[in-house]
Amino acid sequence: MMIKRLQMLVSGATAQGVTTMRHTLVTTVLLATVLHDGGCSDRASPAPPERAAPSDRELVQRGEQLVRQGGCADCHTPMRLDPQLGMPIPIRERALSGHPEGAPEPSASPGSGDQAVIGPTFTSFKTPFGVVFSSNLTPDDETGLGRWSAAQFIAALRTGKHGGERTNRPILPPMPWANIGSSSDDDLSAMFRYLQSVAPIKNRVTEPRVAPEALRAIARSHELAAATHVR
Ligand code: HEC
Repeated sequence: MMIKRLQMLVSGATAQGVTTMRHTLVTTVLLATVLHDGGCSDRASPAPPERAAPSDRELVQRGEQLVRQGGCADCHTPMRLDPQLGMPIPIRERALSGHPEGAPEPSASPGSGDQAVIGPTFTSFKTPFGVVFSSNLTPDDETGLGRWSAAQFIAALRTGKHGGERTNRPILPPMPWANIGSSSDDDLSAMFRYLQSVAPIKNRVTEPRVAPEALRAIARSHELAAATHVR
């Protein structure tokens, strides 16, 4: 009984990714307990070492790292062309605030076989099914995620439904919700915590213009993807 518990504790410690030294320490301490108990007692063994819950600061830092890795800013921070570089660069003061109100949309339509034409700020996408605009992820109450809960954020990214509500329209391409939604609850909560910590920016993003039939087709493709795990 003790041995079994010992194995569980050790593998639990490994799964949490603690250092080998700590792992060894845990093993040694537990082995000592087993020896002390003679290996046959079922009496109370020491509780598994619990990792202290991350502080809020650690959560925000982890969230920032995940938001960077997830490339969220590539689509949610508008860009402008830097004439010297000849390259688009992010507009820092509009970080993560989505398609700027009044900014131009793509001027051309996708040619045959094109997936989308992307507008000059890299936040508007004209696709064969309609025009889509990157959302404001800053915590502004009126125009961003200020009134969202972590549960709602997780639900949106897991279900692909706008605002995380089952009866809402689907979240539209090119938002890679399913990839992001495959992260753990902890990681998604950390991302949300970071997004709630940045400066709120008031920027009302234009509603997407997508025909109802196309919305239904996209919703069906989400369901199919979920059912077949092809995401
Ligand atoms: C390839 C571009 C792209 C990337 C990368 C991207 N997004 Fe988005 N995102 C969009 C677009 C476009 C929308 C608007 C979709 C719509 O209107 O349905 C959106 C919408 C959202 C929404 C609102 C969903 C809703 O319920 O309406 C959230 C939340 C979001 N993105 C979070 C993220 C996070 C977090 C990351 C990074 C981990 C990220 N996005 C990366 C393009 C992107």
